Amino acid sequence: MTFLQAAVVALVISAASAPVLAQGVGGAGPPAPSLTVTAATGTWKPVAPTSGAGAGLGTGSLSGMGRQAYINSATDFCLFLPPNPVQDDLVQAEADAVAYCINAFNGTRPMPDGFITSAHFRKTDHYVQVVGTFNPAVMNLDVQDCGGEYDNHGAQGVGNPVGAAISGANNFFQFIGSCDIPGQSTFGIRACSGDAGTSYSYCNNRYDLMGLLFVMPDNDIANAGFTNCDATDPLPVGHYPGGSTFQQGDSSTPDASHYPPAPSSSNCQTVSPPTSSGVTYTWNQAAGAVAVATGGSSGSASAAAHTSSPGSGKDSGAAHTHTSGFVTAPAQAVIALSAAGLAFAAFLL
Ligand SMILES: *[C@@H]1O[C@H](CO)[C@@H](O)[C@H](O)[C@H]1NC(C)=O
Repeated sequence: MTFLQAAVVALVISAASAPVLAQGVGGAGPPAPSLTVTAATGTWKPVAPTSGAGAGLGTGSLSGMGRQAYINSATDFCLFLPPNPVQDDLVQAEADAVAYCINAFNGTRPMPDGFITSAHFRKTDHYVQVVGTFNPAVMNLDVQDCGGEYDNHGAQGVGNPVGAAISGANNFFQFIGSCDIPGQSTFGIRACSGDAGTSYSYCNNRYDLMGLLFVMPDNDIANAGFTNCDATDPLPVGHYPGGSTFQQGDSSTPDASHYPPAPSSSNCQTVSPPTSSGVTYTWNQAAGAVAVATGGSSGSASAAAHTSSPGSGKDSGAAHTHTSGFVTAPAQAVIALSAAGLAFAAFLL
């Protein structure tokens, strides 16, 4: 099925079954943690860019709802995240995420300091991407939130969330959550450009249940530091060396030891982390914890940094539960992650 045919099918199915892009549609995942730490007010002041892509487009804002994102480098990119992580988990945010950007402008929000803990930028002939790790506490995210998948298609073909886009790209997807690698919180965002059909094969959003390691294999996902590299194109998503393919929903699902290989990288430069910008949000628990610690309280920063109590246990969420219209199987596919978090224990149709 070509992408266009798939899009038509998706639209027809959307019209027939009238999916509602509202909170809770994605369903699974632990409830959003309540606010347990009050962040100290940051020193961030919005500055409107006077040159480059943002010139003339105005400032970012702590309450911005902009969904036009960008990917420039390991220290200058955006991620789609909940506008209110006290209410939304990462799956729910598939309906309403907004762009948080390291250098926010044009109504996007500034990325809170300390959220991105490592990032690796890769540029190939067909896409740019950043993969890395994050500190969930800074965005009030549950450490057991298996996460969501965001793209420019969604159930109604207008974005997941509606209006989400990346400058210079015609397709993108983002995976973010804390289940792909045990004990790590990881993200990946890829923006594909050029010929639309070719572009889509590298940004194919019909693998939303498979997770970051399948769709964006990269040897540096969990590695420390910030790097900018060129990379070879991998095979299109779902394709294997030798010509075999896997489509989400096929009767047998590859486990992590049979994921497509990572592309090789070259011309890598290690760069310094983004300079701290003084950005805090009311839910910026890490900042709150630091403020408590430096304010002479007896509480230690590490103890205060994550005090949410996940309500529903380790296996509460189907990982990457989707609202994408491209998954047209009659019954909803459900992936249960094993306790180890890597092997797909069940794939029920
Ligand atoms: C600025 O924001 C508007 C509205 O979200 C969007 O249409 C436009 O593409 C954005 N421009 C850039 C350069 O990000």
